Amino acid sequence: MNFGKPDANQAIENYRAIALNYDASCVRVSSIRSETIALLGLRSGDCVLDVACGTGLSFLQLCAGVGRYGSVVGVELSPEMGRQARARIERHGWDNVQVIEGDVLGADLREHRFDALLFHYTHDVLRQPEALARLFAQARPYARVAVAGFKKADAWLAPLTWFAMWRARNYLTTYEGLQAPWSYLRQWVPEFQWRSTLLGTGYIGWGHVSTNPVADERSAC
Ligand SMILES: C[S@@+](CC[C@H](N)C(=O)[O-])C[C@H]1O[C@@H](n2cnc3c(N)ncnc32)[C@H](O)[C@@H]1O
Repeated sequence: MNFGKPDANQAIENYRAIALNYDASCVRVSSIRSETIALLGLRSGDCVLDVACGTGLSFLQLCAGVGRYGSVVGVELSPEMGRQARARIERHGWDNVQVIEGDVLGADLREHRFDALLFHYTHDVLRQPEALARLFAQARPYARVAVAGFKKADAWLAPLTWFAMWRARNYLTTYEGLQAPWSYLRQWVPEFQWRSTLLGTGYIGWGHVSTNPVADERSAC
């Protein structure tokens, strides 16, 4: 396991192997997902970005939040995960949900303006400030942000952290930054707050974007 930069090729390989069973493996964090999405405070007509959306497990709740006139945009690196996300969109007949396949670092998001951004178990993306810069360049001023993921527990719970790291080994490609996975995020979300989950091996965080260079053009999304 790597303690350096996230490795996109490694992530593609990992998710190729686990994509089919991914949804089943997420059942145990389904309440964390719901709680994190609720923190976005979605309103009818919002445009929400689901960063590294995986198989689209958050889409149903995001769609409920933004309503018929809102939209959901997912970005996903793994072709196998992205394929499942698109299949989910087709199954539900959603015409206001789209998946952009590729690395966040190269994704073309210029036509979108986001009212809310979800980072649900996206450690590799959170540890790349350049990727965050691309995403937040498309956020509206005061866009809401909600985050959930793995983190290190307090030192006295080290064995629990090791177990969580071992269990998460295929879901992230670096253990760098597990002390405070949100640290780079604070550049865009200065009043970021968080609380522990899963006995300290997880967290849920929330906040809003303070300033943004993008003009407030609601029609763009
Ligand atoms: C643990 S999964 C979480 C998926 C989804 N957010 C969820 O909550 O179910 C992490 C996802 O991040 C994606 N990913 C990793 N690095 C990425 C990047 N640079 N750009 C886009 N997606 C990325 C992986 O392919 C994987 O689908």
